[in-house]
Amino acid sequence: MNIIFLGPPGAGKGTQSVFLEKKYGMIQISTGDMLRAEVARGSDVGKQAKALMDSGKLVPDDLIIAMLKDRIAQPDCQNGFILDGFPRTEAQAEALERMLEADGKSIDAVLFLNVDEDILADRIAGRFTCANCGKTYNEVSNPPKAAGVCDACGSHEFKRRADDNRDTVVERLKEYRRLTAPILPFYEKSGRLHAINGMLPTSDVTAEIEAALGETK
Ligand code: AP5
Ligand code: ZN
Repeated sequence: MNIIFLGPPGAGKGTQSVFLEKKYGMIQISTGDMLRAEVARGSDVGKQAKALMDSGKLVPDDLIIAMLKDRIAQPDCQNGFILDGFPRTEAQAEALERMLEADGKSIDAVLFLNVDEDILADRIAGRFTCANCGKTYNEVSNPPKAAGVCDACGSHEFKRRADDNRDTVVERLKEYRRLTAPILPFYEKSGRLHAINGMLPTSDVTAEIEAALGETK
């Protein structure tokens, strides 16, 4: 099964992808994580992307489409993948349809995590991740069980994303409204869109997703 997670910044796409990976054995492909890895490596792609990401703007379509195309061709993606953060523009959605069709593949379900904008800024401001294993936490809704210790790996080191500040979030939301929200009708028309209430507690969101995917099979 191949799935897309759509939703504004902070909607819970990454959080829910972890559950889907475990339950269904699909591979999470986060274009944001891939770009952050390029920035950390100091590659040409990372150099092009850094200033745009730090200001909350999307990176150019051609760059991200080429990166995604290489990634889904990898052997670990052949039994199903979760696209987290892609597509984000009409051009990306069209390119994705074309590249999958050429491979005899398709998207089975598009999960739209619906969260009111006034909740998103607080969620993002409270987000931090384990510097060792990458597990995502939230100061308010999802702190580690023991303060300062990662539940998953026991590390004491945590980090925050450079673009997780309130000014940048305003820009990220503008980009979402201008470029990403307009692709929802395309998936709705094809009958693949499932609207999920992303404002529920995390485990209830997961239950809604499971129900939606149950209908898909
Ligand atoms: P990207 O990394 O994709 O960021 P994003 O879309 O802004 O999404 P986030 O990672 O912020 O949020 P999420 O929905 O995964 O939420 P999470 O689960 O962490 O993109 C970053 C940048 O890269 C872009 O701005 C752009 O520049 C570039 N980029 C990436 N892809 C691109 C593309 N395709 N085209 C062009 N540019 C691209 O949850 C958030 C917080 O809330 C966490 O603390 C979590 O613990 C908490 N939480 C989660 N669920 C719940 C819940 N149900 N209740 C309470 N708290 C919750
Ligand atoms: Zn950890």
